[in-house]
Amino acid sequence: MEHKNETKAVIQNHRSIRKFTDDAVPDEILKNIMTSAQWAPTSHNVQAYTIISITDPDLRSSLEEVCGPQWYVGAAPVFLVFVADFHKHAMISEEYGTPFEMEETENVLVGAVDAALAAQNAFITAKSYGLGGVMIGGIRNHPQDVGQLLNLPLWTFPVMGMCLGYPDDHPGQKPRLPLSGIWHENGYQNERVQEALTEYEKTSLTYYQNRSSNPKAQSWSEQMASYLSQARRPQLTTYLKNQGFTLK
Ligand SMILES: Cc1cc2nc3c(=O)[nH]c(=O)nc-3n(C[C@H](O)[C@H](O)[C@H](O)COP(=O)(O)O)c2cc1C
Repeated sequence: MEHKNETKAVIQNHRSIRKFTDDAVPDEILKNIMTSAQWAPTSHNVQAYTIISITDPDLRSSLEEVCGPQWYVGAAPVFLVFVADFHKHAMISEEYGTPFEMEETENVLVGAVDAALAAQNAFITAKSYGLGGVMIGGIRNHPQDVGQLLNLPLWTFPVMGMCLGYPDDHPGQKPRLPLSGIWHENGYQNERVQEALTEYEKTSLTYYQNRSSNPKAQSWSEQMASYLSQARRPQLTTYLKNQGFTLK
């Protein structure tokens, strides 16, 4: 018999929450969320991220606009921005008089991965306190504007936002691909993929047709085909280059 595992339950009960009660999130909880973010593993211990709490109402309204608009960015009791950050490292290199080598794509990945791991640790900790929330990739819609609004220095870029608060909505869970679609053994098992896609075609369609809010008669595959038929956020490349990441 499987023993009770509260961490697993918190993780596997996940659904994104976009509607919140008016209750404020206590500072002590927020501090614990930040501390958990810091306990994420980090590539080579570079700790290449900064988390910005958006408490100023005008700034929040501006971010709500540039993220979509997405109204829950404005309405959530807590809104955080996870920023990939090598600015600190640039300061250190200058102090030590050593070269600061940022030409390759590698450090963009390191910063994005570090920020994402910190974000997920924060998210799970928030949920362990009964909070809910949603990550916001919309923060990359207009990176130049976000950079100006948040005074982001060279060698940084916004990776994601995160809305947090006490849930005022209890949506069903969005089904995922069957495990066989994401878990292969000893190499990429292409023969598993079609089977998994066929199965998910049915489960995802049933879910999207029957869900209580925003139902649609479109399977996951159909949505992905449409989603990926257009370039996604092409302005990001220029922004990253302007921020010092040459992506050589
Ligand atoms: C990095 C990231 C960015 C996201 N950006 C947005 C966003 O801008 N707006 C939004 O409503 N949901 C956003 N989401 C939530 C996803 O749409 C959601 O996680 C996905 O549809 C699966 O649904 P679930 O989280 O409820 O299981 C984002 C999720 C991630 C991980």
